[in-house]
Amino acid sequence: MRIGILTSGGDCAGLNAAILAVVRRAVLGYGWDVVGIRQGTHGLMQDPPAVIPLNDYVNNDGMLRLGGTILGTINKGDPFHYPMPDGSFDDVSDKVIAGYRALGLDALIGVGGDGSMAILHRLAQQGGLNLVGIPKTIDNDLAQTEYSVGFTTAANVAVEALDRLQPTAASHDRIMILEVMGRDAGHIALFAGLAGGADAILMPEMDYSIDDLAEHCLNIRKRGRHHALVIVAEAVRTDTGEPVYQGADDQKARYGGIGHWLADKLGERTGWETRVTVLGHVQRGGIPSPRDRVIATAFGVHAVDLIAQGKFDRVVAWSQRKVIDVAMTDVITGPRLVDTDDAMVSTAIGMGAYLGHPPKHKRTAATV
Ligand code: F6P
Repeated sequence: MRIGILTSGGDCAGLNAAILAVVRRAVLGYGWDVVGIRQGTHGLMQDPPAVIPLNDYVNNDGMLRLGGTILGTINKGDPFHYPMPDGSFDDVSDKVIAGYRALGLDALIGVGGDGSMAILHRLAQQGGLNLVGIPKTIDNDLAQTEYSVGFTTAANVAVEALDRLQPTAASHDRIMILEVMGRDAGHIALFAGLAGGADAILMPEMDYSIDDLAEHCLNIRKRGRHHALVIVAEAVRTDTGEPVYQGADDQKARYGGIGHWLADKLGERTGWETRVTVLGHVQRGGIPSPRDRVIATAFGVHAVDLIAQGKFDRVVAWSQRKVIDVAMTDVITGPRLVDTDDAMVSTAIGMGAYLGHPPKHKRTAATV
């Protein structure tokens, strides 16, 4: 048997740990050959396909600790809508399928988020590819899994940022705003906000009022504390419901800037010195946390076992301390948002943090 593995979408910590687990299980457990495909589906489109032979990585235990992905990745270039040099878009999906055939693959493991999984699923349907998915994204917004590879490391980085902001906020009597990633979901903001003791946690799943937030901060001062920490997810909108973007490439707009918008408004309303830190891609890099390594390793082993059992079009998932597998069609349903009834939401409110209020109609994948 010969299997391929590719990483697709934004990188995160733990991808190399997942690759190592796939190689170890496939080579040591089944005696298979493993090839790594460079730059996601882009590598399969090349003639010949761009690959890295992976069998020798079986001994590379440094992979467990290594951030990024040795295979490279892309988060644009949908083969069904591929940007051409003249500015037009073309369907080049047949090239990707031809790459899979040229490599003589018996199966392909795709490590990706919901966008990548949707594309890979469509390719598998069209070309009859034997596909298994491993969920990864710092956003933790894939349906059907409690954790995706990369989330815990990113959340830990955000907690560390709050740990570092708190003493400087206290020293200068300031409001410190931390803007974190997460795309359309607030998982990083909620988890890090709770662990890092934020006084306000703003997420796209909840509505908020800038006046209420200002009053909340002023009440903290009345209670005798002269600094405050606010964490805001990048997709939180302005008070008039406008998303804040920092730019766009050929295919999608990029969030960024809500932290500075909030700082202006809060500063005006409270008269309090306010500073902003935008954490950005720091959340994606670095050494994977132990939990991400464990999850990536468990996912890699299970994905190879699924191939051995001839089970395809499945995605491995984490559920109640177990690795399970679910139908890919149940995962590519759009982003899994924070449930406003989540225990972390009520706990943060119980701790006196400002989270705003649930919208009249709960936000779901279909409404973002
Ligand atoms: O999906 C992962 C993510 O890091 C998001 O949280 C963020 O909005 C986006 O990717 C950033 O993308 P890029 O790397 O293209 O700037």
